Amino acid sequence: MTGGDSHHAAELEAAVARWNGLGLARPQVAVVAGSGLDVSFGATVAGPFALADWLPFPVHAVAGHALTFELVDGGRHRLLHFRGRLHAYQGFEPGQLVFPVRLAARLGAGVLVVTNAAGGIGRVARAGALVAIADHLNQTGLNPLRGRLPESWGPQFPDMVDAYDAALRRRLAAHAEALGIPLEQGVYAGLLGPCYETPAEVEALRRAGADLIGMSTVLEVIAARQLGLRCLGLSLVTNPAAGSGAATLDHEEVLEAGRAAAGRVEALLRALLDDPELVADR
Ligand code: HPA
Repeated sequence: MTGGDSHHAAELEAAVARWNGLGLARPQVAVVAGSGLDVSFGATVAGPFALADWLPFPVHAVAGHALTFELVDGGRHRLLHFRGRLHAYQGFEPGQLVFPVRLAARLGAGVLVVTNAAGGIGRVARAGALVAIADHLNQTGLNPLRGRLPESWGPQFPDMVDAYDAALRRRLAAHAEALGIPLEQGVYAGLLGPCYETPAEVEALRRAGADLIGMSTVLEVIAARQLGLRCLGLSLVTNPAAGSGAATLDHEEVLEAGRAAAGRVEALLRALLDDPELVADR
């Protein structure tokens, strides 16, 4: 009796064996890049691979979301760069949508960098604002650690106090300052979606401490923390969350805001990914 979601543990090992069988190098860092935040971090060493070819379940693409990954020479570090991600609102189980993160971890990545598009609340309710995620509220009602998991993946009850690594956030802030890129810090509320929030929901989340609202990231970070990865999250605010702005929310506008900010996101993340302190010596 597992009493839970399918975690595809055996298929994960098969994917690791396939990677190794291709003679590919082990990544040190995983990057999961969200909606429209399609930037480049260096020379492609292997791939791009269609993510669908590496997943043990069928996927369908959402308009505007690519689904590929590649091994990248980021200069100082080797990166496994996922362009696009799976979302729970598409119908994926938590254990499915974190498969790429678990694959990166099993291939050797010790750091997870996630980006996303988010609605902003209060002081960050401004399209174009970049916000380092300091903490999250998992409002999805889902959890990738539910059910019986291989013991080798780590504790089933991982501590989430430092889910978003403070040292990585300090390095990001230092690079932002050096580059003259304004960067805020904030709490990200991860919701199931796919509809946007009602004004009452936004107000409730604001009172609960949220600065950002999105439909990704929290499950990936939970899975990564179980596996011991240090996590950094960067949100691009694409719109004031519902009720705090004048306009009606539109998926295409969210994607367009991502494209408009791609240059700043690329400069900032390239600096972080080239930081000698990114991967701590162990
Ligand atoms: N809410 C939820 N997810 C989002 C939003 C939003 O306002 N903007 C971009 N992703």
